[in-house]
Amino acid sequence: MKPHRQFRVFASIISLLAGAPWAEAQAPAIIPLPQTTEVHPGHFMLHAGDKILASAGAEETAHYLSAELRRRASVNLDVISQPGPAEVNRIQLLLGDPNPAPEGYTLTVSPGAVIIKARTPAGLFYGAQSLLQLLPTGAADEAIPCVQVEDQPRFRWRGLMLDVSRHFFSKDEVERLLDEMAWHKLNMFHWHLVDDQGWRIEIKKYPRLTGEGAWRKAIGFGLDPKAGTAYGADGRYGGYYTQDDIREVVAYAQARHITVVPEIEMPGHSSAALMAYPQFSCTGGPFTTDLPGGVFNGVYCAGNEDTFAFIDDILTEVSALFPGPYIHIGGDEVPVDNWKKCPKCQARLHREGLARESELEGYFIRRVEKLVHAHGKRLVGWSEIREGGLADEATVMDWVGGATEAATAGHDVVMSPLADCYFDHYQSLDHSTEPRAIGGYLPLRQVYQFEPMPTNLPARYQEHILGAQANVWTEYMPSFKHVQYMVFPRLCALAEVDWSPKDSRQWADFCRRVRADCARLDTLGVNHRSLSDLDEKAPAGRP
Ligand code: ACM
Ligand code: ZN
Repeated sequence: MKPHRQFRVFASIISLLAGAPWAEAQAPAIIPLPQTTEVHPGHFMLHAGDKILASAGAEETAHYLSAELRRRASVNLDVISQPGPAEVNRIQLLLGDPNPAPEGYTLTVSPGAVIIKARTPAGLFYGAQSLLQLLPTGAADEAIPCVQVEDQPRFRWRGLMLDVSRHFFSKDEVERLLDEMAWHKLNMFHWHLVDDQGWRIEIKKYPRLTGEGAWRKAIGFGLDPKAGTAYGADGRYGGYYTQDDIREVVAYAQARHITVVPEIEMPGHSSAALMAYPQFSCTGGPFTTDLPGGVFNGVYCAGNEDTFAFIDDILTEVSALFPGPYIHIGGDEVPVDNWKKCPKCQARLHREGLARESELEGYFIRRVEKLVHAHGKRLVGWSEIREGGLADEATVMDWVGGATEAATAGHDVVMSPLADCYFDHYQSLDHSTEPRAIGGYLPLRQVYQFEPMPTNLPARYQEHILGAQANVWTEYMPSFKHVQYMVFPRLCALAEVDWSPKDSRQWADFCRRVRADCARLDTLGVNHRSLSDLDEKAPAGRP
């Protein structure tokens, strides 16, 4: 039985018992939609004296839940590890559920108790998120509807990428975004730390990467200088994360079951690195970070051995900072003009028996993959890393194709197609009503209708499609408020694409729930695009 159908049956009982308006107000609005939700008559009333009972291993989630309840419902619930009187430990987080799904959970709300069970702390955490979304928004009491939720995610990689190179966002802003991801059960934060317009991660061995590469003369991109606040004491625009900042953000993410995937772009999009260390380019520079959006000749020399030593040193520090299994090395949009003219690159090409410069990119990425593996990590790269021969165990992040070919060749793939997952695109066709965006058109409904599994991919390769990710390229987003505007509500739709069963998607029901979610975001101080043009009666099919 489909969850929405179950919901209607039970909701009608509630309507009879309690009157339709009340029942409507209490209708669960969990995003992403759980696998199954049964709504039962009655509700659980949250009391100030309640305690959260955490079984061994569940304490961290219990403290998180307590903090979020304090934030959202102004109640202060203690966490206990030994059961007290039944009337006190009415909220229970219990590890050891037989549910085989590592991120799955069961949430039972009855008039006398709230019980979340899961096999892992991640599962408990997701159960806690669903519980938080059952709290009424803006109501005077804290009545939580009685439900039985059985849930687990569809995909393993539920991602969001933030570009902090085009504009710099503070550690606190990044942590706020991690919170917002966690509320929607996303689990992969792809941190685009490096691009032409700024290098954002402290590397102790190469201090000029941030001393010079983290800064521009001006905000750039034709923006009003006052549109952003990321100015250094000397008036230059930019900033970077110290290694302590990085450790703090990684720990903050870990506490929310989010893996951080750092991206260190190479061999292209490397003007910031080469401004600081031009000896690793073909031409010797000079390079600048004061660039508009686009593709530039800030490309590492693929013929120079020292380039690989430099990259290895950087990867050594990066690997030590990020405990997750992946390092993203970019690999997109590499112009080969310099490589064509460079004697060292040409000598490499001939020595390796390569026919053309695109194969030199394949050589570059395969060499870097060996370095990544030597640091115990797995390499992720954009679509283009396939072009010169794919590195042995690379994971492909598909933005312009290649998913089916990569998956059938046994490679893992993250789906992030330009048409459906680029949150830098406009949310309306009427640009006069929107803040400036890079172009394109990606309305909420299109994200909601996106299907990550490539059509015709044989079933035996489908496990290689790890999931889907939204990308927030920030050329025209100089403030965090603007980032949130571009992220929400579209991230709600992506969360559902990644988490919920494929056949559960129902646009009208999503519209109801996304309205509730935006009301929650309002109370939590998260900026988002208005839903005033949301059309729940829109016909099926792509907008
Ligand atoms: C990309 O959008 N250049 C990956
Ligand atoms: Zn070269």
